[in-house]
Amino acid sequence: MKPERVRVAVVGTGGIGKYHIRLWQELATAEVVGVFDPDAAAAKEAAERYGVKKIYAALAEAVGDPRVDLVDICSPNMFHREGVVAALEAGKHCLCEKPLAVTPAEIEAMIAARDRSGKLLMTAQHMRFEQRSQTLKRVIDAGRLGEVYYTRAWWLRRRCAPVKPGFLRKSQAGYGPGLDIGVHVLDLAMHFLGHPQPVSVTGLTARHLAQRPDVANEWGAFKAADFEVEEFAAGFIRFRNGAALSLEVSWLLNMLEKEQYGVWLFGTEGGAHWPDLKLASVRDGLLVDTTIVSQTGGDGHKHELAACADAVLHGQPSPVPAEQSLTVARMLAALYESAETGREVRL
Ligand SMILES: NC(=O)c1ccc[n+]([C@@H]2O[C@H](COP(=O)([O-])OP(=O)(O)OC[C@H]3O[C@@H](n4cnc5c(N)ncnc54)[C@H](O)[C@@H]3O)[C@@H](O)[C@H]2O)c1
Repeated sequence: MKPERVRVAVVGTGGIGKYHIRLWQELATAEVVGVFDPDAAAAKEAAERYGVKKIYAALAEAVGDPRVDLVDICSPNMFHREGVVAALEAGKHCLCEKPLAVTPAEIEAMIAARDRSGKLLMTAQHMRFEQRSQTLKRVIDAGRLGEVYYTRAWWLRRRCAPVKPGFLRKSQAGYGPGLDIGVHVLDLAMHFLGHPQPVSVTGLTARHLAQRPDVANEWGAFKAADFEVEEFAAGFIRFRNGAALSLEVSWLLNMLEKEQYGVWLFGTEGGAHWPDLKLASVRDGLLVDTTIVSQTGGDGHKHELAACADAVLHGQPSPVPAEQSLTVARMLAALYESAETGREVRL
């Protein structure tokens, strides 16, 4: 008999892990049966706050619990691979926070484990599930932009760097904003574009401001010694279809606005801006701007978890397949390699 609700174990009960617990509990299609965090106090705090009965003592115990259908990996980036592979090898479905992994090789290992298990593996790219994203995707897929030949994706912050070592240390985060927030807008842009095949990447990374004694950070003080990753990353990606994409990401940058993020798609029939849902086009020889006003953001995280639960319950394919995350990871790895070597990297 098919279960009516997906029984979830949440691994990693920090900021996003706790948010997921709350959202899973709001869904009629899921329930949280247990949590694991190597920081026992963090696990206890989350379990008590949300009334989760079971606290696992180890990852193996969480993924091995026969009551669990799906393991939700919310640990720092460098621990995604061990969690995902352990869950799939234990025969569990798996949702994993973004970035799916730090390197393409780790995602290849996850895909191999998924294929051996036959279970679902989904990347938590919540921005795809916001109403605004789904609306713009409909507009693009209906051909309103014609052929999109240039895309800008950016997420720039003036002085908003995370302060936890989980984001700043290479041993936990892998890389900085290129991976942390770059993966959000790059994944979303690729989703809008229908996943074109990348052929080359040129990249630049920088870490100038983080180490200065007078650095200001609106998200609090961080230890300069923890800040091992880049603070800024930019890349230029060419696709096999002749189109190109530019990516700009920062946690610390001398700009005027506190924060700015978006995707601009420039096509032969029109242009579109996300998240403002503004369209630029020509009608009867006149320049026409259109704003789609009927859509709100919605909570992308909640829609993402609902889509994951539905896919598990109804045996549907992963709403965010690991292969798409692998392509994004290859582009980001090439961006970092190009920044290191000063040369274009061919994929
Ligand atoms: N989709 C989003 O918008 C979004 C937002 C925030 C974070 N994230 C992602 O979620 C992940 C966690 O981020 P966070 O903000 O919750 O970080 P966090 O530092 O608040 O929490 C991380 C938790 O993981 C635990 N942990 C450490 N090592 C672990 C391991 N080996 N196994 C299991 N748990 C472990 C830590 O003790 C901590 O409680 C990161 O990959 C991050 O990129 C996604």
